[in-house]
Amino acid sequence: MRYNSVSMRHVIITIGLFLSGFLIAGCTANQPDAGGDVAAMAVDNAVVLESETAVSTPIPSLQNPPTPEVTPVGEGSALPQPPTITPVPTLETPTPLVPTEIPATPTATPIGVCSQRIPSDDLFTLVTQTYNLSRDYAPKDLVLLTDYLAMDVTLGYPSEIREVALQPLLTLINDMKAEGLQPQIISGYRSYSGQSIAWNKWSTEMPERASIISARPGHSEHQLGTVVDFGSPSLPDIVGDPDIEFHTYFFKTPEGIWLLENAHLYGFTLSYTREASEITGFFYEPWHYRYVGVEMATQLKEVGLTLTEFQLANQPEPCIPD
Ligand code: DAL
Ligand code: ZN
Repeated sequence: MRYNSVSMRHVIITIGLFLSGFLIAGCTANQPDAGGDVAAMAVDNAVVLESETAVSTPIPSLQNPPTPEVTPVGEGSALPQPPTITPVPTLETPTPLVPTEIPATPTATPIGVCSQRIPSDDLFTLVTQTYNLSRDYAPKDLVLLTDYLAMDVTLGYPSEIREVALQPLLTLINDMKAEGLQPQIISGYRSYSGQSIAWNKWSTEMPERASIISARPGHSEHQLGTVVDFGSPSLPDIVGDPDIEFHTYFFKTPEGIWLLENAHLYGFTLSYTREASEITGFFYEPWHYRYVGVEMATQLKEVGLTLTEFQLANQPEPCIPD
């Protein structure tokens, strides 16, 4: 799938959602009782920015080709003579110069209700607060990261990811380590029921903020198996909380800085940017990266959009919310 032919329009997004001292909790780790997820939120003043989204895709012309000129017969000339030779039918069917039919408009692919949505295996399934997945959907190619990565990276958490994203992730981790960084992976795939546990936790503990810090079951990109939540050993010191795992200040850590700059080169894209929070409905999560392949991740990086922003602006709805 290529998107680089799509033209873009300007949108102005004004984000002024959150106040000083606001508390946030990130994506919960694989452990339903992960208690270190609550984090003191950074101050965000109103942010005004410009980004570009597509406005239209060129539509092929359905106009008929020009009608060929026909030489008039008879008019103004001598009367036509009757044929003297009996015509012999040719075997070839003459090709009409003018198409008699306009090509049929392709019929839109029928879409079903979101609660029964089982996506294909491609990397671009749109999952949002509106468009969810079936409770029965689970990827078939999950692998356990503890089989591939050392304890200092996995922290012993049984995080899983789809095999399609494994090698890019291992390469990214290796390259980070080669630069002296200390990446951690706090969370990966979460099943529908795992997300239910996470959602119940946040909606009980922080009912007024749960909807911007946690997805409802079926609405989490983690269910796709292509998402990882990164951590940094620097975070507790920066935040001043020894137990912290997720905090907006991840963007200040060496690992967060490196990922923001380089993750696209490995096919990972940041799903919930500060700038997109009004559109995604989720608060800034500088640790939540989704694998979409190098081509897409690079294009998103170049235009400064998240996958969700891009898809909402350019694609028909993927399912009927129910
Ligand atoms: N924290 C993200 C939005 C999730 O729950 O998937
Ligand atoms: Zn996450």
